[in-house]
Amino acid sequence: MGLAYKAVTWNRQKKIYDIGILLLIAVYMLVFVVLTSVLHPEVPPPTLIIRSTGTLALLLLHIILVIGPLSRLDKRFLPLLYNRRHLGVIMFLVALVHGGFSILQFHAFGDLNPIVSVITSNTHYGNLMRFPFQSLGLVALILLFLMAATSHDFWLHNLGPRVWKSLHMMVYLAYALIIMHVMLGVVQLEDSPWLVGTLGLGMLLVVGLHLVSARNTFQLDQAVKSGDEQGFVYAGEIDEIEENRAKLMRFEDQSIAIFKYQGKVSAVDNACKHQNGPLSEGKIVDGCITCPWHGYQYLPESGASPPPFEERICTYHIKLIGSSIWVNPHPNSLGTLVEAATISPEV
Ligand code: HEM
Ligand code: FES
Repeated sequence: MGLAYKAVTWNRQKKIYDIGILLLIAVYMLVFVVLTSVLHPEVPPPTLIIRSTGTLALLLLHIILVIGPLSRLDKRFLPLLYNRRHLGVIMFLVALVHGGFSILQFHAFGDLNPIVSVITSNTHYGNLMRFPFQSLGLVALILLFLMAATSHDFWLHNLGPRVWKSLHMMVYLAYALIIMHVMLGVVQLEDSPWLVGTLGLGMLLVVGLHLVSARNTFQLDQAVKSGDEQGFVYAGEIDEIEENRAKLMRFEDQSIAIFKYQGKVSAVDNACKHQNGPLSEGKIVDGCITCPWHGYQYLPESGASPPPFEERICTYHIKLIGSSIWVNPHPNSLGTLVEAATISPEV
């Protein structure tokens, strides 16, 4: 793929996903505004916008953070993973409305530049209880902006997967800053005990799901038995894999996707060439391994994308002993043709 900028194209699945997100946002805003207006009629409209968009951005951020571990634990969540980047950009826009209105309301009408005012109007940086919590929101918003602005594939190719991934891992730093922003804000404004409670539950969910999914991955690593004399490693049983689906095998630093299709099994590198998407979570469509994230395709025996595409991934030698799958975890060079192992009809 070249480095030219290609406009984002929407397919049917992306449209359904985006409509779902917009509906969620509309329902949330409506419920928040109606409930607050009834329960707290004294809250002025600008504050209503600041609070509804702040809490909505926080909710969307939680959804973004749990999609990864959820889809590792249960494949039914994979459709949500498919376009998580759209959710990220929308979340940033909602947070921008919140930050923008806050700056307008509290910092726009003095002599100072409004952004300078956010950082310098409260200088109790050494005092936790009076800490300038808005500065934390500002730094988080800048991080969210960097991630949203580089979310397009153009930047992925320009920066390279490693730099891009590191940049986007900053979502966890942004999350920590936002937690502090909200907690310290609530302490100072002596407001919203329900917000602290809900936020605590949200944090438990995010941390808990990440821990459970990390434990599962670790157990998978441990489950791989030691290799045979030809360097093949036991990878599991044929029945564990559904037709046209894969099983993930980890061995030392290798992550290998083992696909079962049309009475055969093949093993390829788990990382998609596009954006390191987990191929083992994809399926075989039209005879090709199809990445669950954005649909890049590879032939299972050669790891090469069908023409006219030119991406290639590593393949691995594979054999069957009865119903047991054995894989040689030494990767072949990109696009090397390896004959699939045939499943005997007696198995
Ligand atoms: C320039 C950046 C930001 C500024 C100046 C800012 C400012 C504020 C202010 C003044 C409040 C108190 C509002 C009130 O209750 O009267 C607040 C609360 C809040 N902020 Fe921010 N914020 C910023 C960024 C963010 C970001 C990036 C997020 C999350 C994605 C966020 C989430 C929240 C939440 C959840 C609350 C609590 C809402 C409530 O009071 O009910 N903020 N922020
Ligand atoms: S990561 Fe985008 S298609 Fe695989």
